[in-house]
Amino acid sequence: MQGKRILLIVGGGISAYKIPQLVRMIRSAGAAVTPVLTAAGAQFTTPMTLSVLAGEPVHDTLWDRNAEAEIGHIQLSRRADLVVVAPATADLMARMAQGMSGDLASTLLLATDKRVLIAPAMNVRMWDHPATRRNLAQLKADGILTVGPDSGDMACGEHGPGRMAEPEAILEAIRAALSPGPLRGRHVIVTSGPTHEPIDPVRYVANRSSGAQGAAIAAALRDLGARVSFVTGPATVPPPEGVEAIAVETARQMRDAVEAALPADAAVMAAAVADWRVVNGSKQKMKKDGSGRPPALEMAENPDILAWISTAADRPRLVVGFAAETQDVVAHATAKRTRKGCDWIVANDVSPETGIMGGTENAVTLITHTGAEDWPRMSKDAVAARLAARIAEVIA
Ligand code: C5P
Repeated sequence: MQGKRILLIVGGGISAYKIPQLVRMIRSAGAAVTPVLTAAGAQFTTPMTLSVLAGEPVHDTLWDRNAEAEIGHIQLSRRADLVVVAPATADLMARMAQGMSGDLASTLLLATDKRVLIAPAMNVRMWDHPATRRNLAQLKADGILTVGPDSGDMACGEHGPGRMAEPEAILEAIRAALSPGPLRGRHVIVTSGPTHEPIDPVRYVANRSSGAQGAAIAAALRDLGARVSFVTGPATVPPPEGVEAIAVETARQMRDAVEAALPADAAVMAAAVADWRVVNGSKQKMKKDGSGRPPALEMAENPDILAWISTAADRPRLVVGFAAETQDVVAHATAKRTRKGCDWIVANDVSPETGIMGGTENAVTLITHTGAEDWPRMSKDAVAARLAARIAEVIA
């Protein structure tokens, strides 16, 4: 972080009392801090504290004639290497999502051409409110980075998600946001979601995959700087921003899209590809014929994309498969690794009682040529970050 400059926007939340500590930590790590205080932020921490610790004046008004004459809000936002908003209140997030610019903080956020990292902090009900959900989704779609919030006891006496991430975690997120990314210049293909295998124009065979884990992996690889070709079936989770999304429907389309995306340094096959397709489907909607007998669907095996890419002439250096099992997870997944010829298998138990398929958490075992590693149950985002870091160890 040596020589970097952080524009630190402090919003109006009780957790602003931790920001002086964050300023000290950022400076100890070698970066300079330009503090910006909103009017609400000034209720929770003082301009004096921030400017003494930052060793620079605090900016707190859009209408500062001297500042506008010397630097101006545009330059203030441009000369930073990273913009950090902590705490990012519900109000600040809403204004960012709308592109409003009524005060110095929101104007800087609208004027900046740098990456922006926010550390949300608010009451649990405000965090859970549909308006905040919408704003967060919009901010993520705009490429805004987030850290936290944590879950726990809150100053308002309630319990749940909404506590600002601790200064140590914010510092790590700043460090990651400033790093050029170990996977810069690398290309990774990620498959995700289910496939739909048509029966007739309105019906299809499918499975319950949401595409959440695959999308999280693509985002985590993107965050490490990789160029990501994201080949996705009809998933419920939208593709992340900043990846090249290729939407397909059937297994055969997915295989063709993967082939077209080659060559790559790594491939992560997280899609729940349908094993079979219907071969006696109909071009027209099938009708009941009055006999009371249902149509007999004839099926054929789909191409196994994972097995195929593992032996392809331009095989990526690292091929990672998934194994969704409901029993003897490790034994089946270990056998699958050998059978498919991939390097690693990420195995998980998708029995309904685990709540994994369609849920936000995952408990996986990573199977490599050296054996099986159980990872603790964690969010799908955390599994993705850990897997992306391991991939980077091999292909960076
Ligand atoms: O054989 P099974 O479907 O359990 O294998 C799962 C792994 O193989 C996943 O990584 C999945 O993406 C991949 N796969 C594939 N093409 C298929 C079937 C599975 O790429 N037709």
